[in-house]
Amino acid sequence: MPRITYNEAEVAAFEAARRVPREGLADWRDAVARHLKPRPGMRLLDLGSGVGMWARDFADWYGIDVVAVEPSEAMRARAWWPDVLAGDAEAIPLPDASVDAAWISTVIHQLPDLRAAAVELRRVLHSGAPVLIRSVFRGRHDGITLFRFFTEAVRVLDAYPSVAEVRAAFGEAGFDFVSLEAVRQVTADSLSTAVDRLRREAHTPLMLITDEEYERGLSRMRAAANTQPGPVTDTLDLLVLRRSSNGDRTGKDSTHDRQTDTEADEHAAGDGVH
Ligand SMILES: C[S@@+](CC[C@H](N)C(=O)[O-])C[C@H]1O[C@@H](n2cnc3c(N)ncnc32)[C@H](O)[C@@H]1O
Repeated sequence: MPRITYNEAEVAAFEAARRVPREGLADWRDAVARHLKPRPGMRLLDLGSGVGMWARDFADWYGIDVVAVEPSEAMRARAWWPDVLAGDAEAIPLPDASVDAAWISTVIHQLPDLRAAAVELRRVLHSGAPVLIRSVFRGRHDGITLFRFFTEAVRVLDAYPSVAEVRAAFGEAGFDFVSLEAVRQVTADSLSTAVDRLRREAHTPLMLITDEEYERGLSRMRAAANTQPGPVTDTLDLLVLRRSSNGDRTGKDSTHDRQTDTEADEHAAGDGVH
């Protein structure tokens, strides 16, 4: 079950405000391709697809099959992608071992039970399949322009899962760590465009601050838009995990890998890659 339900107005705001122009997604296109290694006939699950912006892009960019799963009826009603099933991370309406990869974009903080989601993902993925998680993780928001202005919204992120928490939940369910990297996107051609496009309802952290705090942030952003030309770039994290084969779950080598991965995670988190 989702923690946040979207009504029609919120979905419309989400669609209007959160779409990054395709030309701004070149680095995401490359980063995803590196991990996905797309091939004809590959089937990817877009979990918590929203209106299916990424589902459509992935099908166009890579020529793969995409099945989207989305719990919100309002999101599904406006879907840009034909193959969107009703369901959620805790009950994915797909058979065992039926997908080759999973994409989870800005969803992980909305999942009520990370471990249950990881177990369910393990069920539907083939052995060795990658899970690509695009997210802002706790403590790693410095690359997001919005939080430079809406500084009070950063406290909302304190409730988001950290990289270590996601890795632990997925590790227990039988996933190995592959990599963590910050990926850049050009979100808008200018701050002025970004402020014009901003919709409070499209951003959970902005919904959860007070009206006064929101107004203060908006004033800061508008003032900066008058003096700061140039495109708005943001970086979000891409955490990649891989479903281990059944035999790996309790194997000695896998335990060793997980210890090594924890060290690598701490190193990456401390790199200040944003
Ligand atoms: C911020 S939106 C991101 C939508 C889309 N992935 C994107 O990047 O454009 C978060 C989405 O997660 C979905 N969601 C919330 N709880 C979920 C759950 N338990 N399982 C799967 N999806 C969920 C919401 O309905 C919403 O569509």
